[in-house]
Amino acid sequence: MSGPAAPVASPPAGQPAGLAFDAAMESEIAAILARYPRPGAGLLPVLWLCQRRWGWISPAAMSAVAARLGLAPAFVEGVVSFYTMFQRRPPGRFLLQVCTTLSCQLCGTGELVAHLKRRLGVDFGGTSADGAFTLVEVQCLGACGEGPVIQVNDDYYGDLTVERLDAILDRLAAS
Ligand code: FES
Repeated sequence: MSGPAAPVASPPAGQPAGLAFDAAMESEIAAILARYPRPGAGLLPVLWLCQRRWGWISPAAMSAVAARLGLAPAFVEGVVSFYTMFQRRPPGRFLLQVCTTLSCQLCGTGELVAHLKRRLGVDFGGTSADGAFTLVEVQCLGACGEGPVIQVNDDYYGDLTVERLDAILDRLAAS
């Protein structure tokens, strides 16, 4: 269903409380905001830009976005916490987003989830001890016809079995 997943960007070790956007980020933010009638309307793409840059959205990044767009920090935090696409903690190199909605459940997601939790030694929200994989639960990924489906970083993998999943994880872990 897709090619090899690329690892997520490594976040800087401990972002400072007073995070500031560099010139490249400022340029991209300006280009985003030019598409909207007011700065606050560009919140989602600016947050996505932050996540692409750092791999997650830290409290410092939320504060910087709020200040840059003229929004209340609590509002920005509320948006970040609403969408599962935004990570509020540094993920492992590979973010495993497992669809647990009904269509995938009927196709065997439960068995995959049990296997993933055993293999990685984590529950949903956890990161494997080697830092390679973060396991999260998400709702429908929009590929119900190929369930069970897991998104690994930007790539989808469908029609999964425990054996196929293990082969994928083995390959990713060795990359
Ligand atoms: S129910 Fe899993 S992709 Fe839609």
